[in-house]
Amino acid sequence: MASKTLICDAEPWKDLKAHVEDIKKTHLRDLMNDQERCQSMMVEFDGMLLDYSRQRATLATMDKLYKLAEAASLKNKINRMYGGEHINSTENRSVLHVALRAPRDAVICSDGKNVVPDVWNVLDKIKHFSEKVRSGSWVGATGKSLKDVIAIGIGGSFLDPEAVESSKGRQLRFLANVDPIDVARNITGLNPETTLVVVVSKTFTTAETMLNARTLREWISSALGPSAVAKHMVALVEKFGIDPNNAFAFWDWVGGRYSVCSAVGVLPLSLQFLKGASSIDQHFQSAPFEKNIPVLLGLLSVWNVSFLGYPARAILPYSQALEKFAPHIQQVSMESNGKGVSIDGVPLPYEAGEIDFGEPGTNGQHSFYQLIHQGRVIPCDFIGIVKSQQPVYLKGEVVSNHDELMSNFFAQPDALAYGKTAEQLLKENVAEHLIPHKTFSGNRPSLSLLLPSLNAYNIGQWGVELGKSLATQVRKQLHTSRTKGEPVEGFNFSTTTLLKKYLEASSD
Ligand code: F6P
Repeated sequence: MASKTLICDAEPWKDLKAHVEDIKKTHLRDLMNDQERCQSMMVEFDGMLLDYSRQRATLATMDKLYKLAEAASLKNKINRMYGGEHINSTENRSVLHVALRAPRDAVICSDGKNVVPDVWNVLDKIKHFSEKVRSGSWVGATGKSLKDVIAIGIGGSFLDPEAVESSKGRQLRFLANVDPIDVARNITGLNPETTLVVVVSKTFTTAETMLNARTLREWISSALGPSAVAKHMVALVEKFGIDPNNAFAFWDWVGGRYSVCSAVGVLPLSLQFLKGASSIDQHFQSAPFEKNIPVLLGLLSVWNVSFLGYPARAILPYSQALEKFAPHIQQVSMESNGKGVSIDGVPLPYEAGEIDFGEPGTNGQHSFYQLIHQGRVIPCDFIGIVKSQQPVYLKGEVVSNHDELMSNFFAQPDALAYGKTAEQLLKENVAEHLIPHKTFSGNRPSLSLLLPSLNAYNIGQWGVELGKSLATQVRKQLHTSRTKGEPVEGFNFSTTTLLKKYLEASSD
């Protein structure tokens, strides 16, 4: 039987606890002047750039975190996961969502059986079926092609596909809530004759999903007759009068919240992005911890939550297409880490897991950012995209609408890190009674993730004012660099590096 030790009893944990006092004496304003530190805190992989120089951490912090990872046998746990061992000990199951996006020739075993061929059988079946629906050769009970899709599911079976949906040319709606209003909103304006209903449930026992599935089955059969179900409904299992050929298998070695790469996500969406997920899986499995983006993000979360004591994290994509990304991460992270005991059932004497929330920038800037700038400290994850899916250049303008969005992406992390002092305000002749209101303490951590593009492969008041003025500086820089080729100047090392990458890559 595994010994019931807790990670907080290990030396690296105690060392990090003591190190918190060193970090409390630092300010990001000073840490950001250390170019060597900033450079070491930038990691690139597959066109993606992670900049975590605005975390309240030094290189010594990172070394201590790597030692913590070693003490937790992280490498060994990663290998055991990829090796199909039953690391889900409470359910005695493998945890193999990585097999869902493994290349066709990969070998990943669960209980001695290579599961990759089964995964590809289902993917091929989905491709075949979705091509028939898209081309119009799959017709409904009255001979009409199916142009709209309602996906029924809840939890990961809703949030995952919703976060990545891309429904070119047809309506794709999601029915999750058992509230009848959700049914009414979903069917309004749709014709059962031309609608495909996809029942997305791993277990096919989830009460909300089952009731919604029965409700839409009734909607179809009362309009078209019971036999129409086989033509208008597909699922992961052969139930409900669903044609067995249109039942796409699912396996118990995939957790519901990691199901986006299974039939759950791929069925209502497309076969794309499996490649991108596979690429980051390989990186996670093989890259050393100091260059391993998922490991770094995990360690920084542990640092912020369990050592610095920050209870929340804001997920801030500067991309409207990622508007459902924060709810997706909420489930993945809070359902996974929302635990009060260790894997051995021992109560945790420290906080694990964080409260995740978020909204695309710049919308969030005019809502809850005020609290993040001048109220409580909430570590932020900024996500920016170099190339817009929909570039808009207004007549005669060099700085595109996307540049405007990205000016904010570059400005906010520095506004949080540096803040604004009373001395700076005095120099700006700000009236004395307003100084406390316009002072920003700064020293508020964030990280920035810059992605090359958003495709299937890759995926307030006073408080607002400081970010706005910094965004103006970025916007000017983008303009002069684009029109006169002027070098990026007047920013710290990290922002300069990010801006250069953005300018170079977006003008390709
Ligand atoms: O209750 C939580 C949960 O099991 C999630 O993990 C899952 O995503 C959701 O319910 C839906 O489950 P199913 O796909 O089996 O309907």
